[in-house]
Formats: sequence, structure tokens, C-alpha cells
Amino acid sequence: MREITLPLPGRDQSYQILIDPGLRLRLPQVLGALRLPARVFIVTDTRVGSLYGDQTVAVLKDAGYSPTLLTVPRGEKAKTWPVAQRLARELLARGADRSSPLLALGGGVVGDLTGFLASIFMRGVPFIQIPTTLLAMVDAAIGGKTAINLPEGKNLLGTFHQPRLVAIDPQFLQTLPASQRRNGLAEVLKAGFIRDPDLLTRLDKEANRIFKDEGELTEIIHRAAAIKAEVVAADEREGGLRRILNFGHTLGHGLEQASKFRLPHGEAVAWGMLAALRLSEKLAGLAPQEAAWGRQLIRNFGLARSLPRLDPQAVLSALTLDKKRQQDRVVFVLLKRLGEPVIQEDVPLELIKEVLHEVVFRGGN
Ligand SMILES: NC(=O)c1ccc[n+]([C@@H]2O[C@H](COP(=O)([O-])OP(=O)(O)OC[C@H]3O[C@@H](n4cnc5c(N)ncnc54)[C@H](O)[C@@H]3O)[C@@H](O)[C@H]2O)c1
Repeated sequence: MREITLPLPGRDQSYQILIDPGLRLRLPQVLGALRLPARVFIVTDTRVGSLYGDQTVAVLKDAGYSPTLLTVPRGEKAKTWPVAQRLARELLARGADRSSPLLALGGGVVGDLTGFLASIFMRGVPFIQIPTTLLAMVDAAIGGKTAINLPEGKNLLGTFHQPRLVAIDPQFLQTLPASQRRNGLAEVLKAGFIRDPDLLTRLDKEANRIFKDEGELTEIIHRAAAIKAEVVAADEREGGLRRILNFGHTLGHGLEQASKFRLPHGEAVAWGMLAALRLSEKLAGLAPQEAAWGRQLIRNFGLARSLPRLDPQAVLSALTLDKKRQQDRVVFVLLKRLGEPVIQEDVPLELIKEVLHEVVFRGGN
């Protein structure tokens, strides 16, 4: 079993991220240390629930827990106020109290929604992350950011509420569709670009068999999750270091918005990373051969191969409205070298436009 301890500075607290193939079947053992009450509530979505709901309930029941499974729709439409309210009322109807733990069994959507509810239900109850997508394992389940969406935009209502445990079972990924695997791989690559060039070399070697080799997959998840944990521990509330996690995301968000969210998040981030690598060559001194290798690596994973029809001007407009913008300059995370990010506060829009045309819209290298 791999273990990462995530300390929460200034609060004399920490929690563990455990990574182990088959961990879903040994959940009671790892929950035991938390001394939770027997009555627990599992939140999941319809797909994950149909694949793993009964099994999770059975495993917990066998160990003396009394679990209740609550199911929400799949996708972003579950991260809404009406769904959160319905869940809260179901919790009350099923006898939940202020010590009842919520277990989030699913991807980032279920994790964000469950964490949000756990932070406000009876002024806060414990919650456990059991991520089932690669994106949630290496990113969304770690760090305690919770959110739901509003009609006006994504993640507009949210809290910081740290889980008591993140239990990662890489075997969940056996049933994850390829497009969702790619979404997560974009975040794994990002972790390598900002912090761990060795991880990039490893990914380069293993591109074709990552999901076939359980040991390799566990190692890769461990490394990427450790990077997220390290950054979050240093900067829980996104004041400084946590900003490096936005590598590839500035332009990624612009592309996502301009495509009206038809472009999957991982794809958008992959295109954003291609552009950020080019900008890094121009502004931060990244060696051209490193940048070209990085771009090739992204493409080797089947990412950034095609793009829906997009208006470049819409991408630029979305960029200048992004909430991560400071004053009137566009802030980018760039790389001096692979693994060495810098925050570039004032990247000129003209240059972004040039790179966007060169790398994204003409698919250049
Ligand atoms: N809190 C954070 O720090 C943070 C960070 C990044 C992203 N997010 C949020 O995460 C969300 C995206 O998460 P996601 O990409 O995991 O999407 P998701 O939760 O919507 O899951 C994607 C799809 O995969 C299915 N699925 C999940 N696990 C499966 C499995 N093991 N087998 C088969 N199907 C499975 C789900 O039913 C869903 O249809 C977004 O809402 C985003 O805002 C949050």
C-alpha cells in the first residue's frame, strides 16, 4: 500500500491518501483508524452506483457498518443546489446526524458535491473521498476544494472542507471509458510538467501499457497524487504555490468556454499545455527541444489531436474574463525547465493570439 500524508499547516491535523489495488474491498480496515460511527452514507452517481454500489455496501455491512447508498445523476447536472438540497433532505429522512460520515464514491462531480454537502450539513460532517476516475484520484479528491455550479457558471458556490481520508483503488479504472482516462492523463502529465520530469520520462516509456500494468499505474497515480498533495499542503487556499496547478489551464478554460463545454476538460488542458510550452520557449527560456518533446508526449497519449470548430476571438475573450486574471494582464504558468514553473504575470494578448494560431488552430509543433 502506498501512503501519502497530507499535513494541514497551522491546524495540527493531517489526512492520508492511500493507494492500493483492491483497496475498495478492504475499505473497513482503512476506515477503522478513523473511528467513525457505524451509520455511514455513501453518495454515488448512477453509473458508478450500478458498477460498485452494491459491492461497497456489502463490504461495509460485512464489517459491521450500516451503510445507506444515495444516488445522484451523472455529470455536471448533479453539482447543483437542487441536488444538494435533495441529498440533505434524504440524509435527514434516513436518520443522519452531525457525526454521520459521507463517503463520496465516484469521480470529481460526486467528490465536489459530497464535499460541499459535508461542509454545510449540520455545520459540517466528516467525509471520505473514494475517487473512481483518474482525474479525481490525482486531482479533484485531493485538497479539500468543494463546489456546486450555478446557472451563471461552474463552481460558483463552494467551500474548503478537507476529507478525513482519500482511499484510491486503481482497479476502479478498469471500467473507466478511454475518453475519461485521457481526461485524467492530462492532469497526470501536468503534474509531471510542473514538478516531476522523471514522471514524464516514465510516462513516455509506458504510454501504451499504463492501464494494463497495475503496478505501473499505481506508481503513476502515487506520484501525481503526491505532487497535488505537496502543493496543497504548502498553499491550502490558493494564494501562491497552488497557482502552479493552473499550468495549461488558463488557455484550457478559454477553449472549454469557447466550445461551450463540448471540448472535454482534459482535451482543453492538453491544448492549453501545448500552447503554454510554446509560450515557455518564447518567454521563460524553456529549451526548444524540451518543449517539442513535451508536446510530442502529450500527443502520444492521444490528447490534443482534434478540436471542434472554435472562434479564436471567443477563446481570447474568455481568457480576458477568466477569474484567475489579475487586473488587466493575463497570468500564465510557464516553465523555465521541465519541472520548474514560473508565474508570468503579464503575458501580452498579442503573443497569446500568435501562439494560439500557431499551436492550437494550425496544430503546429
Ligand atoms: N475539487 C477540485 O479540486 C477539483 C479539481 C479538478 C476537477 N474538479 C471537478 O471534477 C469534475 C470532473 O470530474 P471527473 O472528470 O472525475 O468527472 P465525473 O465525476 O463526471 O466522472 C466522469 C464519468 O465517469 C463515470 N465514472 C466514474 N468512475 C467510473 C468508473 N470507475 N468506471 C466507469 N465509469 C466511471 C461517471 O459516472 C461519469 O459519467 C468537475 O466537476 C470539476 O469541476 C474538482
